[in-house]
Formats: sequence, structure tokens, C-alpha cells
Amino acid sequence: MSYIPAEVLSNDNVYGQYFFITVRILNSYRKTPLPPQFAVVWVPGVDLIPLSYALASGKVVGFFYKVVGEGTKALSMRSRGDVIGVSEPLGRWYIPQGGDVVFLAGGAGIAPFLLYLKYVESPRGVWGVRQGELAARLVELFPKLKSLLVASEDCTYGLCGKLTDYVDRVPIGRDTEVLISGPSDMVREVCRRFRDLKFSRAYVIAESMVKCGIGVCGSCLVGNVLLCKDGPVVGCNYFE
Ligand code: FES
Repeated sequence: MSYIPAEVLSNDNVYGQYFFITVRILNSYRKTPLPPQFAVVWVPGVDLIPLSYALASGKVVGFFYKVVGEGTKALSMRSRGDVIGVSEPLGRWYIPQGGDVVFLAGGAGIAPFLLYLKYVESPRGVWGVRQGELAARLVELFPKLKSLLVASEDCTYGLCGKLTDYVDRVPIGRDTEVLISGPSDMVREVCRRFRDLKFSRAYVIAESMVKCGIGVCGSCLVGNVLLCKDGPVVGCNYFE
């Protein structure tokens, strides 16, 4: 895979281990990133990191990420003017056409939904966070997030508890499409609930399993689907 040089414009600590980085692509992308596509971000000499686009505007793209290892730690230390590598948009984009869309996001799983906010007028749903302060800060950056219920485990913002405590509060109609992104235990629990309800329009955004991003390493194989090529959106039935 080739990487396009990208100059860091900002790399802000949103809260705790969560950061938001914006970069300017120094050459042109062949295609505009659309949700929930992702890029493999190359931190030279350190690691390759698959990240969902949270922002895409002309040559400027942005990623919301959590520091979870050496690669993301190194990324968090890049500052304005540094150059990293960013792949072309990977995976297939998917924008529900029906209008009634529900987002269910756990923690950093909110990342792909940040770009969806540009395309979905009035999203409903739940975002579950451990610390309410994270939600408070990200809502300042993305005011349209206010249309989601927020469940905070430390009970300092929005509803008190976990996302799974409040999923049932979001009305789901026959034409609703549900998009889910977050930690695997949360995703599995939510998908099991939809299975029990015999609701088939629930989909998982699963870019976090991607490694090489080009269909050669096999690490993102779910059932018979390679998430990096045919995903990252797949049916909930793969995660029950
Ligand atoms: S990430 Fe390597 S095959 Fe999909």
C-alpha cells in the first residue's frame, strides 16, 4: 500500500486518552472519504493504524482516536507541522438512504459517526462513555452529537449507566437502520438483542479489526467477509 504524505494541522487531547488529529493531505486523494470508510495511518518508524475518518473537507481529514498502544501513543505525540502518511480511503462507504438512522456507539466507536453527522440530518441513538467529560468535550466540537442520548458510567453527563442500559429507549421502526460501533462485548450484546427481536436492519462498523487494509493478512476475516475490502459495514449476524 502506498501512503500519501500528510502534514499535521492539529492534534488535540480531547480528554484522557482520546485525541483528535487533523492533517492536510499534501497530494490529492483520488476519492473523497465517505462514512464509514477508514484510512491506514502510517506513523513513520513506528506503526500502521487503521482509523475511521471523522472529518473530510477538501484536503483536510481528521481522525478521533484513543491511545491504546505504541502506534497511537506515537501518533498522539505528533504536532503541528509534522508529516505522517495516510492511505487512500479504504473499505466501502455506506450511507443509509431511508432517513431514519440510529447510531449506537461505545467509547471511541463514535469516530465513524462523526463523519456521518455530515450526511445524516437528525441521527438518533446512544453513545456510551466511561467518563462523561469525554462526551461533554466532544459535543463542544461536534454540536450535532446533542441529538444522541449519552450514557456515562461515571454518571457525570447525560444518563447514568452503560449504553446497553438505554438501547431500549430508542424507538426502532420497520424502516429504521441501526449502525453499531464500539468494543466487541458491547457490539455482541446489542446484536444479540436485535437477533432476539428478529430485527435484521442492524449493521456493525468494524474497522478496528483491520490491519493490512488491503486484503492480504486475513486478520479481518469475519465469516466469509474481509472487512477491509468488503466492509467495514457488515450485518449484526456476524457478531451475535
Ligand atoms: S486487514 Fe489484512 S486482510 Fe483485511
